[in-house]
Parts: sequence; C-alpha cells; structure tokens
Amino acid sequence: MNPSAISTTEAVDAVFYYIFGISIVMLVGVTAIMLWFLVKYNRKRHPQPKPSPRYNLILEATWTIIPTIIVLSMFWYGWQGYTTLTNVPKDALEVQVTARMWSWTFTYPNGVAEDRLVIPAGRAISLSITSEDVLHSFYVPAFRVKRDAVPGMTTRAWFRAPEPGSYDLFCAEYCGVGHSAMITTVEAMSEKDFEEWLRHETLEGEGGESEKLLARYGCIGCHSLDGSKSVGPTFQGLFGREVTVVTEGKERTVTVDAEYIEKSILQPQADLVKGYPPVMPSFEGRIPQEDLEEIVEYFRRGEVGMEKTETEGKNLVQEKGCLGCHSTDGSKSVGPTFQGLFGREVTVEKGGETQTLAADEEYIRESIRQPKAAIVRGFPPVMPDFADLTEEELEAIVNYIKELR
Ligand code: CUA
Repeated sequence: MNPSAISTTEAVDAVFYYIFGISIVMLVGVTAIMLWFLVKYNRKRHPQPKPSPRYNLILEATWTIIPTIIVLSMFWYGWQGYTTLTNVPKDALEVQVTARMWSWTFTYPNGVAEDRLVIPAGRAISLSITSEDVLHSFYVPAFRVKRDAVPGMTTRAWFRAPEPGSYDLFCAEYCGVGHSAMITTVEAMSEKDFEEWLRHETLEGEGGESEKLLARYGCIGCHSLDGSKSVGPTFQGLFGREVTVVTEGKERTVTVDAEYIEKSILQPQADLVKGYPPVMPSFEGRIPQEDLEEIVEYFRRGEVGMEKTETEGKNLVQEKGCLGCHSTDGSKSVGPTFQGLFGREVTVEKGGETQTLAADEEYIRESIRQPKAAIVRGFPPVMPDFADLTEEELEAIVNYIKELR
C-alpha cells in the first residue's frame, strides 16, 4: 500500500471499522454463548454437579492462537494507518500552524498569514504546528487529524481534503477561558481558486489591510468585530468609547484614543477594562512599530466590522439613477432587472458576436463601467458609462445586487 495514495480519513476509518467490527462480533458471540450456557447448565436441570475435564489441549491452543492472530492483525492494520499518518506525501503544501490563547494563525511558504486554513482540495497539506504560550491541540474531525501544539517544539501532521468545502477546526486541549472560542475553519477550494486566493492575499498582504493584521496577531480570537462580547471587549466602535479601566487597583474612566490602544497592546494589564479577565499576552517586542501604527490607524478610522453592505449599495443605486431603468422586483423595464441578476445566465452581444455568460462580479462591474461592451440581447444600448465610480462604490453596488437573489 502506498501510504500517500490514501487520505488520513481513510487510513483512520479503515482501522476503526476493522476493530469496531471485531468488537461487535466478540460482544454478540460472547453474550450469545453466555445466555446459552445459562439455560443449558441451569441448576434446575443439573441438581448434582458433575466432574468436568480439567485440561483440554486442543481447546487451550485454539483460544490462545486465534485471539493472538486477531490482536496481531489489529496491530498490523493499525500500524499501516500510523505509517500513513506519519509519512507526509512528497508533494505536500507546507503550512505553519501557530496556536496561541485563543486563536490560530496559518502561515504559507510565501509569508501570507491567515486565521482560517485555506487549502487546495485533493492536495496533501503538511502542517508544522507550534504554540506561543500553552498547550493547544490542532483538531479537524473531518480529516481525523489531532495533534498537540506545544510551546518550544514543532509537531507535525498532514491531511488531505477530498473535496472543496468548509470544515470545522477546533482546539482540543483545554487552554483557558477562551478555549471554547478557539474555533476556525478549514476552507478547501479547487486548486485554481486556491492559487488565485493566494496570489490575491500576497498582493494585499505586506503590512496593509488592517483586519488581516488583527487576524495575524490573533486579536480576533478574543475581540469581536461585530459588537458581541467575547473574552475581551469588542473592537466595534472602540475608538472614542468611554471605558472603565482598573489602573493599579483603582477604577477610572478613560476615553479610548491612539495612546490608550497602543498601551493596551503593549501592556494589556496596565489599564485593564473592568469586567474582563487579565489574560491578554503583551505584544511588546512581538509587533513591529509599523504594524502597531497601522492597527491604531485602523481603529481611528472607525471602520471596524463595517462592510460595503446592502444599504450603501442600495443608496448608490438610487443616487446614480440605476433604478430608473432597472427594477429590483423582477419586472422588465428599459434594462434587465437586478433581481436574481448575480449568477444568472445572460445572452449578450459582445464585439459583434452573441455569447452566453454567467453574470459574475466581473461582468457586473464591466457592465457598470462600460455598458456598451456587452449588451444584453433584447435591450437597447442606451445606458451611459459609469467609469468614474470608485472601487468602493462599485463593490457596494455589486454586493447589493448579490443580495437581490
Ligand atoms: Cu487552545 Cu484550547
């Protein structure tokens, strides 16, 4: 058996079902014989005990040899599974896994860091696992992988996701108050989507994108972006908020400003927000100045958890006059309706040819910027160009249209 040809799930399940099957046969067999003996050798039928043979070589040999073979077969089968779990396939994608109280960071060979484990489906993923503080355990039930994350050493594991999908990833070692919140996902996608994702992340990464930074330093594990209470205070509406903090045993009220945020990152225990446990590690010496500034700046902008949502897109669509020609309820107007547009198959005239394509994000963007590049069949070429929309505005509109399914 070539160990790299099968997945960790198959390797573990095969042994599990083998041992489970034998256990069932044994349980049923032993119970049946026991019940049969109960009836057969009942005292009422045999009031006087009879002498029984004391030794039977054939019986002794049989119940020694057969169980030995069964147990050895379990060992051999288990050993095969163990070999599979420890032999990382050669073509595996290397990912560094860092655990900390209470979040995960996954770092790719090109330096991209994420708080979800994004992987190509079908390809082996090799994990080098470590911890920054206490014991944690990397656990993905779907792939039957569980490996401890130990501070000061690197443990290894691998798995392969059979098909694209989202799989739960847990911490399986009790590690403090935030243990149960130490959850994330494995996002398996096609090889092509994965390459695209990685390229996109690589371009965006490099010190930019503050939410990525928060994920990289594991802040999101304890601080929510949506206002919900977690191990630590939420980041939503953080800047300018009045908080009661405990400084050297005394309570006082402070307004969150750049200085306060910076200090809270470097010396979290100095001005501890009342009602929260003093469990945040210090980031002194662990975070470069530019990342620190970027994060503070991000809070100052007050964009935490904000997305270019439905509402913004909706307002824009009204402001820019789109609704004059496009309905949102499926009815036909001067132009095609927005309802169900995203993902719909449309037939367009493009460069003198008739084509059928799926209305994806790119198509919608292009249709707004250069409506005449591809005219939907049956509609007049009357829509003006909206080439001066900003990237944010376009995104908001696309997001709004996506909602109109
Ligand atoms: Cu980390 Cu439990």
